[in-house]
Amino acid sequence: MRKLAAGNWKMNGVAANLAEVAAIRAAHPAPGVDILLCPPATLLSRMSDKAGAAIFTGGQDCHAAASGAHTGDISAAMLADAGASHVILGHSERRADHGETDAQVCDKTQAALAAGLTAVVCVGETEAQRDIGETLDVVGQQLAGSIPDTATSATLVVAYEPVWAIGTGRVPTLDQIAEVHDFIRAELTARFGDDAAEIRLLYGGSVKPGNAAEIFATPNVDGALVGGASLKATDFSGIITALENARR
Ligand code: PGA
Repeated sequence: MRKLAAGNWKMNGVAANLAEVAAIRAAHPAPGVDILLCPPATLLSRMSDKAGAAIFTGGQDCHAAASGAHTGDISAAMLADAGASHVILGHSERRADHGETDAQVCDKTQAALAAGLTAVVCVGETEAQRDIGETLDVVGQQLAGSIPDTATSATLVVAYEPVWAIGTGRVPTLDQIAEVHDFIRAELTARFGDDAAEIRLLYGGSVKPGNAAEIFATPNVDGALVGGASLKATDFSGIITALENARR
């Protein structure tokens, strides 16, 4: 399995920030891992033009329908047309800000697969859910409800992102990360059989160059979904290098 360093720019970035892409490209001309950058939709086409063959680009959301009267929304086919190969779906900020349910994420994931995109489906518990011991129940429900039966290791990436670790500088212990990643692998294996061993499982939430190596040494962590530290090429490059060097 080829590991994956994915960057989520969220609602950050204008044309001037595309210089970061050139810098990442220059630092990793022949990367030993897959690199994915998901800019705001306004930059997707221009970033895709600059990314070259070594960097994949993706959207941060898509609509479940192929086209139609949905003002302000973007279809999976439109993302593909703008150069995307991937799309992040069910990010906790979408679930919180836009009330996205597992069923809606599942419909969007189906639309992404139909458009030939790889879906990066996000799951993760809130701090309150962790505090009352519901982490695995919540993650299990999100996995079951958000991923369609048609997904395969070629079209699905799962990102475990504890909500309380996103943008906070707080990171779970390595044992906590391992527990959830082992659980996700087991749930996917129960559902998809042997192919589940090839589904990339990303950890996300306050990944930085300084903590990436130990996170990547954790069992069943096949890469990262990075927010803040993906905005600057020097930071993201450090994370890419840590993933390239990861042994476990
Ligand atoms: P962060 O965001 O790296 O800024 O914590 C991660 C994410 O939300 O994907």
